Amino acid sequence: MSPVILRTLDELRTLVAEWKAAGQSVGVVPTMGALHQGHLSLARAAKEGCDRVIVTIFINPKQFNSPEDYENYPRTEEDDARKLAPLDVDVVYVPGPEEIYPDGFSTTVSVAGLTETLCGAHRPGHFDGVATVVTKLFTQSQADRAYFGEKDFQQLQVVTRLARDLDLPIEVVGCPTIREEDGLAMSSRNLLLSDRARVWAPELHGAMEEVAEGLGQGESFEALKAKAIARIERAGFAEVEYLDLRAADTLEELAAPDRPARLLAAAWLAGVRLIDNIAVD
Ligand code: PAF
Repeated sequence: MSPVILRTLDELRTLVAEWKAAGQSVGVVPTMGALHQGHLSLARAAKEGCDRVIVTIFINPKQFNSPEDYENYPRTEEDDARKLAPLDVDVVYVPGPEEIYPDGFSTTVSVAGLTETLCGAHRPGHFDGVATVVTKLFTQSQADRAYFGEKDFQQLQVVTRLARDLDLPIEVVGCPTIREEDGLAMSSRNLLLSDRARVWAPELHGAMEEVAEGLGQGESFEALKAKAIARIERAGFAEVEYLDLRAADTLEELAAPDRPARLLAAAWLAGVRLIDNIAVD
């Protein structure tokens, strides 16, 4: 059945109040649209964990670093609703900007520490934008659980921390990254890759797997990192912003995987910024 599309907070509140009065649990999947199998896996997880599911679609201007990036972000609302229809999602909430940032809006949610590194260091203000909109979507939806992909691993840590710090009555659930057959992590930004760039893109994940394998055999991270960056650049990437080994919980930099760790990378390919991460245990 096609999900109901709601565009105002009033409509959403009325419906959620009915669900809550009936004792039903609510899951929310925040997205910016251009839905792919990764998003659909989050909606499925929400369906398994909750009585009612809301998928939100809001392209959040506050988390983009340049107006061009915001303008170029894929907008595919009709297609998105069609993809959600077989999943039995209850509501697609597509708020206009005035529902999220009404006139005079002047609050920013900022998570210190975790946001100052990796993507945060390269995209000033990005995580403030994410934390602010996610806090709004949590309070607007009054969901009991929220589902996020591990693909945006730093975002998942930031959102988990903000929910805990602000005592928001919501459980943040992380779900595994979904990949194309050639290993490329699914992302709405993949739609922006040219056919040629799409062929080169999986090299990022390939090089990261090689690093993880080398670490498993006790090789030095520094040597593996240099080799991986050379491989990624040879594949046609213009720049590797970072390729770091970090503690999985605090994102603190590690020289070796002496505790649960994550290898995280961001790199530019033909004008598109791709990110990926894998567990190194
Ligand atoms: O991951 C995303 O698509 C966005 O950062 C999110 C969580 C929907 C906030 O705008």
